[in-house]
Order: sequence, then C-alpha cells, then structure tokens
Amino acid sequence: MKFRHVTVEDAELLLDWHNDPVTRAFSTTQEKTTLQEHTVWLNHAVNLKHFYIAQVNRKDIGVIRATPGKTNEYTLSWTIAPEERGKGYGREMLPQMTNTLPDQALLIAYIMHTNIASIKIAKSTGFKLVESFSGEHLCMFEMLNKKSA
Ligand SMILES: CC(C)(COP(=O)(O)OP(=O)(O)OC[C@H]1O[C@@H](n2cnc3c(N)ncnc32)[C@H](O)[C@@H]1OP(=O)(O)O)[C@@H](O)C(=O)NCCC(=O)NCCS
Repeated sequence: MKFRHVTVEDAELLLDWHNDPVTRAFSTTQEKTTLQEHTVWLNHAVNLKHFYIAQVNRKDIGVIRATPGKTNEYTLSWTIAPEERGKGYGREMLPQMTNTLPDQALLIAYIMHTNIASIKIAKSTGFKLVESFSGEHLCMFEMLNKKSA
C-alpha cells in the first residue's frame, strides 16, 4: 500500500466515498454533502500535512486524514472505498498512517459504537477506548503514538 497526498482533483472521488450510504451511517451527520460544500472544505483541507489517499496497485482504495489539534495532538478519520471494503485494507492503512505522525503524539479517533470494523482496526493499531458519548452513540479512542523503526 502506498500513500499519495490528496489534491483538489480528488474532489469528486472523495465526495462519492463521503456520500456513500454506509459511510454516512457511521458518521455523526447523516446528510449528504453537496459538491459545492465539499469543494470549499477540500480547498482548505488539501493544505493538511497528513491527508492521504491510499493506493494498492495504483488504484485509489481509501482516504485517511490527521487533523492537528492542540500541540502534538491529531484527530484521525478514514474511509475505505465502498467496493474495496472487507479486504484488510483498513487494517493496513491505519498503522501505516500512524507511522507518518510524530512519535509520542496523542492520536484521537471518534468512532460510532456500531462500527465494528473501525473499532477492530483502531484497537489492533493500539488505540484504547477513553470515553463513550451515549447520546451520540460515539466512542472516543486515543493512543500515544509509537513509531515503528
Ligand atoms: C470501517 C472501514 C474503514 C474498515 O475498513 P475495511 O478495509 O473494510 O476493514 P478490514 O477489511 O481491514 O477489516 C478489519 C476488521 O473488521 C472486520 N470487518 C470488516 N468489515 C466488517 C463489517 N462490515 N462488519 C463487521 N466486521 C467487519 C474484518 O473481519 C476485520 O476483522 P479482523 O481484524 O478480526 O479480521 C471501512 O469498512 C469503511 O470505510 N467503512 C465506511 C466508512 C467508515 O466507517 N469510516 C470510519 C469512520 S470511524
């Protein structure tokens, strides 16, 4: 698996993945995003240092982003392309991403408690459950990043 930086040319691809019904079902907002709203957001988001499309055999198979918060803190979010799910790519993509982030950074992920696949890949990467927000069916996971050599 290889990572490439997201560009503004990826707008339609990312919007398709974002508006996929399963992606929406596991997000905090279920409404679909318009191309206009998405483009405004993406024009800023492409400046993030850690915002990648994962590729396997040169095919775009997923997207992963680390949004910096407080000093040395990043919130991660990820999606695998609908037709590529269940092939082990999520399990590979998350640790590959954490390995690009600074050692000892605090990494945070918010995951719906019904999103079994994401909870599995987060736990297998080293994330631990720190809080559950029952009203929103959301779990907060954290880990202190340990880069492998
Ligand atoms: C959640 C998601 C990222 C997982 O990636 P994936 O490549 O499909 O998952 P993997 O194939 O790597 O599987 C990871 C684990 O979850 C399990 N799994 C995969 N799909 C599953 C499903 N639909 N239901 C339950 N378990 C599932 C796998 O068996 C595997 O378990 P194992 O490690 O015990 O073998 C991907 O399915 C996705 O993008 N879903 C929609 C958007 C989303 O939920 N984004 C994340 C928001 S936090």
